[in-house]
Amino acid sequence: MRLPLVLLLLSGVLFSPSLSSGVGSDLIGGRRELIDLEQRYRESVLKGWRYFQTSFARDGMACVNCHLSYEQMTGWAGAYPKVQVFDGTPFAVKSLRDVVLEAMGKHTDLPEAGRMKRVDDLVAFIAWWGDGQDVTPGLSRAQAPAAADQRELENSVERGRALFMRNDPPSCSQCHIPEPGGTETERLNLDHAVTGFPRYDEKAGRVLSFKSFLLRHGMNHKLRLDPDQITDVQAYLASQASGTVLKPGGTKSASK
Ligand code: HEC
Ligand code: HEC
Repeated sequence: MRLPLVLLLLSGVLFSPSLSSGVGSDLIGGRRELIDLEQRYRESVLKGWRYFQTSFARDGMACVNCHLSYEQMTGWAGAYPKVQVFDGTPFAVKSLRDVVLEAMGKHTDLPEAGRMKRVDDLVAFIAWWGDGQDVTPGLSRAQAPAAADQRELENSVERGRALFMRNDPPSCSQCHIPEPGGTETERLNLDHAVTGFPRYDEKAGRVLSFKSFLLRHGMNHKLRLDPDQITDVQAYLASQASGTVLKPGGTKSASK
């Protein structure tokens, strides 16, 4: 009977000031308080939280009606990209943004523009629940992913690596070194960039999920990569960052 114990400890954390930092942060997985987040990221989290609780559907359903426990969302952000299939959605590796868009398609009556307007704030909110957690590609819940899902994720990582390294037409590696410890100083090392998203972007003037950032970045650098290929590149970068800690809202800014 672990659940009552956890509840007891959590209520201790919530109601006892002396526990609110040390033991508390272990229990809730090291998640920062809202007040400690970068300001614009925090605003995005709060918007996303509101959307999560608001129904945009004629049947009155909101995300929170099915996702009752925020604690269950703790493992989501660090698990993507991965295979996630709802009724009728394709079997494919998807970014968290892709899956949130699918969930909005299924559970809201918003037109496309309305979904696009809200998706990155919802991702920001979900990412905050994963704050302080490890990057665990493919693993959003306690049980291991199905073998077929795992295989498809490995394929995606391989495709992403090849796309990242591609020379003709040129791609990411002309400007970035993916491996930790790369030394060419004029290049940008992307070691763990994945852990700082979603984050505020000067040029966009709003908080961007990693997928949204890369879609813009790829267009701005005229890289010939379609959205599925961008997801593969993300899967590759997430595999490189496996085991490092999520800290969304990172302050680096400005996509070129
Ligand atoms: C009618 C119930 C229902 C509603 C409403 C709903 N979801 Fe879900 N959602 C589910 C179920 C069930 C799953 C688990 C599917 C599975 O078993 O993989 C899920 C899974 C997810 C996942 C994948 C979690 C993982 O483990 O990676 C995300 C992300 C998600 N939902 C986001 C949302 C968002 C955002 C909304 C609101 C726009 C929403 N959901 C609304 C039922 C719902
Ligand atoms: C022509 C050079 C160039 C190419 C090609 C390029 N980038 Fe970048 N990238 C930059 C520069 C410059 C920055 C820093 C300024 C900014 O954030 O836009 C950057 C920043 C980034 C960042 C944010 C890093 C951080 O921690 O702030 C990520 C992530 C990134 N790039 C990923 C990619 C990926 C993935 C590709 C291939 C799909 C790619 N880039 C292609 C030049 C490039």
